[in-house]
Amino acid sequence: MKKLIYCLLALHLSCSLVTTEREGFEIASIDPASPLRPQFHFSPPDNWMNDPNGMFYSKGYYHLFYQYYPDSTVWGPMHWGHARSNDLVNWDHLPIALSPDENGLIFSGSAVYDKENTSGLGKDGAVPIVAIYTYHDMAKEKSGVSGFQSQGVAYSLDEGNTWVKYDSNPVLERDDLTDFRDPKVFWHEPTSSWVMVLAVKDHVSFYGSPNLIEWTHLSDFGQGYGSHDGVWECPDLIELMTGNSSEKTWTLVVSIGTGSARGSATQYFLGDFDGEKFSTKQSPNKVRWLDQGKDNYAGVTWSNMPEVDGRKIFLGWMNNWDYAQVVPEDGWRGAMTLPRSLFVINYNGVSTVASYPVKEVELLRKRSMPIKKHLMNVAVDWTNLLEGNDVLIDLELVVTKVNRKGSWQLRLSNELGEEVTLGYKNESNEYFVDRSLSDSLSIHPTYDAIQSAKRIMRKDQFANRIIIDRTSVEFFADMGLQVFTTAFFPTVPFDRIEFQAPDESLLVEGVLYQMSDILESTP
Ligand code: FRU
Repeated sequence: MKKLIYCLLALHLSCSLVTTEREGFEIASIDPASPLRPQFHFSPPDNWMNDPNGMFYSKGYYHLFYQYYPDSTVWGPMHWGHARSNDLVNWDHLPIALSPDENGLIFSGSAVYDKENTSGLGKDGAVPIVAIYTYHDMAKEKSGVSGFQSQGVAYSLDEGNTWVKYDSNPVLERDDLTDFRDPKVFWHEPTSSWVMVLAVKDHVSFYGSPNLIEWTHLSDFGQGYGSHDGVWECPDLIELMTGNSSEKTWTLVVSIGTGSARGSATQYFLGDFDGEKFSTKQSPNKVRWLDQGKDNYAGVTWSNMPEVDGRKIFLGWMNNWDYAQVVPEDGWRGAMTLPRSLFVINYNGVSTVASYPVKEVELLRKRSMPIKKHLMNVAVDWTNLLEGNDVLIDLELVVTKVNRKGSWQLRLSNELGEEVTLGYKNESNEYFVDRSLSDSLSIHPTYDAIQSAKRIMRKDQFANRIIIDRTSVEFFADMGLQVFTTAFFPTVPFDRIEFQAPDESLLVEGVLYQMSDILESTP
């Protein structure tokens, strides 16, 4: 029924594609006739997508690979799909980069720019870009023995366009393990070596290598630390800019599979890495989430960013394994978060990893509607600030409490009375996103639960950024100190937006930017 409503809607919406030519690619706006499809987030051209993989930057292009099943809208034999962008927001879809072979399916992993040709895979001066990924051998798994996950290598000598598998794959095997996957590799300057961080069931393992081919076990971290509600997956170890200083903090990001009320989610640890071991002063029981929403999983950062840039840019899969395979689809399934810069903020003696959309997202702002500073009434309707019926907005919103009271919320709704609300509850000092009334579906028991988190910032002023792209909201509270990423599937698209302040004691001002669709191209 739901699908039918979407199909009918699709027929009513304009089907015209804006096309131009760019470097031999045909460029088009994302198909506007698919009412579920985000218009400025990356989504696959068709079929199933999960984790971002192998992200590297080189020669003006950000490459993005992703877990892709080209034959269906549910998970199946994994390939690496491929796209690239010169601005992190508009994407060229490229042919599939890696397909399953006799060693197994191609699970998640990373890619590095081997500029000194340590691997020896470079030829005639071409720098090899080396992908390190997990092979998953289905037949071996079915036969009931362990050791069905191993690490393989592939390389590209033409800037990621085509890939050759290393001829002695796999390069790292452990017959005694079942969960042994998702290698994230980086160059560690002080020890002049490559370091791989790998998810191993309830911990991560670090391996070192001089050449990306031969790997030696260095250490393990994680047993007894953080959340163990699910299996550990997709780790990343990065040094993040901290405060306003030149100081950096080693940060271990680890996704954990379903098991908790959050479903699958991403946690992090702040600490130190000496080239062999990761250590943290954090209490083992403490759990720190990178995102307070339900839909940010398996995220990792781009490698080989230019030094002058200095950003650690993160991208997550905007979904949750609890319900990823049953959310409504339209010939394609899955989208990524917006790319975000990660950094550490020290506030009130506590260090927190904050995220904020990369500045390139502002390239998509096509019209700005100022919201003049005013003292709030109970509610104000901002629907007239929208262009057309599509809620494609980037909202900068500054809210100030005037007498210490002041709950507030933004409400998206449609003519069926379905709604998503997000904002701040003064009584409990919590931010929240509530999609429990957003549709007529019963997707999964954890889907409807309200997502909430105690506010960290203590000021009376709230500076927020709220980005809405038809079927998702990214709520950067207190400039990214806390973040909620949430997808939703209303029966008909939301087309109304209101701001509500039941205590009538707030000053509000901001700018609402109408966003344009991103351009996608196919070769
Ligand atoms: C995380 C994950 C990874 C695995 C991939 C398989 O979402 O389960 O651990 O490599 O997906 O598609």
